[in-house]
Amino acid sequence: MHETLHSPDSFRAILPVAIAVEETDEDVSESELFIEEKAQAVDAVRSRRREFATVRFCARQALGQLGYPPVPILSGRRREPIWPDGIVGSMTHCDGYRAAAVASKADMAAVGIDAEINEPLPVEVADLIMSENEAQAIRYLVSSEPYVAWDRLLFSIKESIFKTWFPLTESWLDFTQCEVSIEASTFAGHLRIPAPAFNGIDLSCIRGRWTVCRRHLLTAALVVASDGLEER
Ligand SMILES: CC(C)(COP(=O)(O)OP(=O)(O)OC[C@H]1O[C@@H](n2cnc3c(N)ncnc32)[C@H](O)[C@@H]1OP(=O)(O)O)[C@@H](O)C(=O)NCCC(=O)NCCS
Repeated sequence: MHETLHSPDSFRAILPVAIAVEETDEDVSESELFIEEKAQAVDAVRSRRREFATVRFCARQALGQLGYPPVPILSGRRREPIWPDGIVGSMTHCDGYRAAAVASKADMAAVGIDAEINEPLPVEVADLIMSENEAQAIRYLVSSEPYVAWDRLLFSIKESIFKTWFPLTESWLDFTQCEVSIEASTFAGHLRIPAPAFNGIDLSCIRGRWTVCRRHLLTAALVVASDGLEER
């Protein structure tokens, strides 16, 4: 069994301490999967099985930080991860990066993390995921700070928002149904559809944080529990 991973340690820098996170830029062996997990990944290609195994390894390490024993983390009907009772969390993988973040439901109602390569989106994808307001803001950001692939960052933010939205609402959210504004290290996603309240929490605006880590963009959407603590 693996005991240590090389950790780029970057989601850690943008997540509140109540959220346990493990991240890595190297894969573990598929033998790390539980039998039930292997059954879900059996038809996948080898690279997919490796990322599937590695994020689950990260998730079990993160759960361990919260005092939880290793358990299988299965995928639900819409691919959402099924966490142990009392836990919320999120997983992401992209070329050269895998991460899992978990928290107690006492602290967080939902967490969504997403990692992407810091490279511009194909134009046809960019056109599909942003409103005219967002496109205008992105054009300005590109001209002032070309080092960040702002359109890819917007895409990642929307995916991290979706990873909080789906577990809370069990419903789809289109890229155009949420308008995002980006600040220096934070973002706010304003829902363009009626947003249900979840346990008294207003979901009409979902906020989060982002950073650039070497060649990756990392985003984290955070929905704090109604009596949870937002900051470190
Ligand atoms: C679900 C989705 C966000 C995953 O993103 P991705 O870029 O494909 O992949 P990532 O590696 O970042 O994340 C994959 C992980 O997300 C998690 N995930 C998948 N579906 C999910 C869902 N419905 N809810 C929460 N988490 C989900 C899983 O843990 C998955 O990893 P696994 O299959 O190994 O368990 C994306 O495939 C998708 O369907 N997007 C469209 C919806 C959307 O983003 N709308 C924007 C609203 S503003």
